[in-house]
Amino acid sequence: MRTPIFAGNWKMYTTVEQARQLAGAIAEGLSVRFNGAAQCSVIVCPPFVNIAAVVEVLSGSTVDVGAQNCWSEPYGAFTGEVSAEMLRAVGCRYVIIGHSERRSIFREDDSLIGAKLQRVWEAELVPILCIGETLHERQSGMLWEVLRRQLESVLPRDGSMRPLICAYEPVWAIGTGIAASAEEIQQAHQYIRAVLDAAGYSHAPIIYGGSVSPSNVAEILSLPHTSGVLVGSASLKAESFLSIIELGLHAYERAR
Ligand code: PGA
Repeated sequence: MRTPIFAGNWKMYTTVEQARQLAGAIAEGLSVRFNGAAQCSVIVCPPFVNIAAVVEVLSGSTVDVGAQNCWSEPYGAFTGEVSAEMLRAVGCRYVIIGHSERRSIFREDDSLIGAKLQRVWEAELVPILCIGETLHERQSGMLWEVLRRQLESVLPRDGSMRPLICAYEPVWAIGTGIAASAEEIQQAHQYIRAVLDAAGYSHAPIIYGGSVSPSNVAEILSLPHTSGVLVGSASLKAESFLSIIELGLHAYERAR
């Protein structure tokens, strides 16, 4: 059984003090609810400027820290950017790469995402690679083609030594309150599993993101190819994130 993953993407929310409080409440809640021994991987991804404070608050806890993005070079004249090496040095273990907000608002394309992935591996961090179709792409029958392209154009084919988490996040489900249905997630995850396996990434867990909440997480984590969730707005309140972990973990264990 793969260890289930519960990752919180805090996006551009939290001041440093709010980040400290949220991280502290999550760590505290986990140790109360699970006696400090939850059988899952919990990751929080604060804004860059709050990472050091969150790493400090979470030291000695079971919660890992990730970043939401990084640049594709290790250092240099790239004003405003942060490298994977810097993230590792400050205490991150994970980096989200290719989130749909990066792709659409900041115009990141597959070639930049591929270069970032390479850099993340060189810095010995674990990428959380986000893929997913827009509503237009789904409605015009391009779902499978889009998912295949977003994977095959960025993943080197010798995947066996490369750590990877793949997050399927349909763009139309992010921040809308309308999650994909269990059937839609199941079909996409089954397809992604086959593409990843063929490229040598059979070790890579697949997670789902897009309007995950305490009310839908149990159904999502009962699906056979789904090993976790990437949570946006519902991860900004410790109580709802903790409920997602508790309900999701029970459903995951029951289904396996
Ligand atoms: P959401 O965001 O849970 O608020 O839909 C998910 C994400 O952007 O990763």
